[in-house]
Amino acid sequence: MKSDLRGRDFISVMDFTKEELETILQVAIWLKMRNSVGDDQSDILKGKNLGMLFASPSTRTRLSFSSGITQLGGSSQIYNPQELQLKNKESWKDTGEMISRFLDGFAIRLYNLKAQMGADSYEYGDARKVLRSIAETARIPVINMLDDKEHPCQIMGDIMTMREKFGEDYKKKKVVMSWAYDDRAKSAGVPQTMIAAGCLMGMNITLCYPPVEGCYDVDPEYVAFAKKAAHENGGSFKISNDIWEASKGADVIYAKSWARMPEKHAELSIKYKKDYCISHKHFEKTNEGAVYMHCLPAKRNAEVTDALIDDPKISIVNDEAENRLHVQKAIMALTMC
Ligand code: CP
Repeated sequence: MKSDLRGRDFISVMDFTKEELETILQVAIWLKMRNSVGDDQSDILKGKNLGMLFASPSTRTRLSFSSGITQLGGSSQIYNPQELQLKNKESWKDTGEMISRFLDGFAIRLYNLKAQMGADSYEYGDARKVLRSIAETARIPVINMLDDKEHPCQIMGDIMTMREKFGEDYKKKKVVMSWAYDDRAKSAGVPQTMIAAGCLMGMNITLCYPPVEGCYDVDPEYVAFAKKAAHENGGSFKISNDIWEASKGADVIYAKSWARMPEKHAELSIKYKKDYCISHKHFEKTNEGAVYMHCLPAKRNAEVTDALIDDPKISIVNDEAENRLHVQKAIMALTMC
């Protein structure tokens, strides 16, 4: 098993092999077990400093990275673009050089340059280009905390959660990664990462969304990667445009809102509001023991009913959130050591 990820960036799950993602999961489980018995881990990244740039709000990512680096013996600095000279248009390239001089790792959340950085225009993929350009200049690991294409730390935590829930059998389970209704247009980073990472791990993934081409279908690059990865790793990848059909025989329904055409989302999505508010009715069609997942924050009674998200027999959303801590500690420990 290839276990040496020192110095690597964690920007896209597609930059990694199945073995490398397995390594991250195993280290995360190991660190979580050590936490369980109160084992001191502060020797792992002693004295290391993580910079975190948030161009948009965050609860889980911010808290889990901050606690994670502290548990590993390091420290963190948190900023938003308005506090750095980025506000005065200092280039990303020059910023990248600076982070290498002062930090040991740099994590960044950036997915809409127009809204978050005041850019004149914005195209899908521009945020990823920024992350890549910083990584090219920086001589320290750069970690993606959500860009316009992926949310890789989230999905690694989610896969860890499925593995905990179902044991090694998790790869045989039917995972439905579905769109859910919300009036707010959100990033497609979660579904795109799930289909790429899940298929790379050999899982059985069904992507489900309303039949509105160009708005709820996901980036074709991720679909092509998922199909190839599923074929090569013994998993499967399917697309459904019917949540009721997709729910049949599912073991996981992971449902969240996304939109690739934010300007048309409000008008287009309303038609699907009823079918895509995930409830106990969907779980009447699933396998026994099926679970509900959401990356949070969830829009209650839009994406999911209160009754379902608060049902401790079905909803594992808070375990998912906790595993962000363990998996991100693993990513930092492996790349920043
Ligand atoms: N899931 C997630 O990334 O949560 P935050 O936006 O609160 O960090």
